[in-house]
Amino acid sequence: MNAKKILIIGSMGQIGSDLVKELRKRYGTQNVIASDYRTPAREALEQWMPFESLDITKKDTIVGVIKRHGINTIYHMAAILSAVGEQNPHLAWEVNMEGLYNVLEVAREYKIERMFFPSSIAAFGPQTPKDNTPQDTILQPTTMYGVTKVTGELLCNYYVERFGMDIRGVRFPGIISSETPPGGGTTDFAVAIFYEAIRHKSYECFVREDTTLPMMYMPDAIKGIVDLMEADLSRLKHHSNFNLASMSFSAKELAAEIKKHIPEFVCTYKPDFRQRIADSWPRSIDDTVARQEWGWKPSYDIASMTKDMLEKLRYRHIHGKL
Ligand code: SER
Repeated sequence: MNAKKILIIGSMGQIGSDLVKELRKRYGTQNVIASDYRTPAREALEQWMPFESLDITKKDTIVGVIKRHGINTIYHMAAILSAVGEQNPHLAWEVNMEGLYNVLEVAREYKIERMFFPSSIAAFGPQTPKDNTPQDTILQPTTMYGVTKVTGELLCNYYVERFGMDIRGVRFPGIISSETPPGGGTTDFAVAIFYEAIRHKSYECFVREDTTLPMMYMPDAIKGIVDLMEADLSRLKHHSNFNLASMSFSAKELAAEIKKHIPEFVCTYKPDFRQRIADSWPRSIDDTVARQEWGWKPSYDIASMTKDMLEKLRYRHIHGKL
């Protein structure tokens, strides 16, 4: 493989923003081009440079960026998440499917050497086994987001088989992060609960207390992306759809863990339309295949993640940055 020249699409999103920092540390700032459909605020632009505005629904804008920077590696992180996707299914299809198709086509035409595409536990549906969900199982999601993720997995695998491309991806659980909040997902409650615990010592949760979902702390999510993208291709039997697990807990268990650090914290529950989405997803995931094929191993559990999240958010709160 040539020296890496990386494009991150969706750099200002929850995962993208942490991924930009990590990849720039590893491969050098000038070799990692950040891009998003949004433009950073003028005072923040410096920290994002090199940065390109990019609309994945317009193929020409992707081509322009690829040519200008001699890109050979793409991390395609832009997507509409599950809750927003249910409110605007057409937008979810346009961004998640037409956007992915454009990126794949440009990647094929311009001979991109390696590409990352994140799938999700949303690829599963109510008929999928809910506990220790196997790698190869029933994929019949009931959300538009899930439909686009399953189709995305299949499309990426098609490009691997048909055009000999190197495209890799994982099914992420809900991701908890202290830097950039998620936008419009069903697992967002597991992030919002921390912000509200620090700010107000209370949180009204939009799913029932017994709602149990697979989750992961951002440092593990980034490690998963980096490790998979560095893995030896000859070891991979799967490509764009690796199950990935780290921890599973109910909303009530998370609230109890936070209470160990903030005893006054009170969590109440008022389920909304997102409950139905959460109920259609697995409780826990079997990630044996990722462990075998590329050595996946997460570091955080609910206790160490909660401690770290609260420390980071408390620090920002004290300094008036939360
Ligand atoms: N976190 C995502 C969501 O809730 C799942 O991939 O939409």
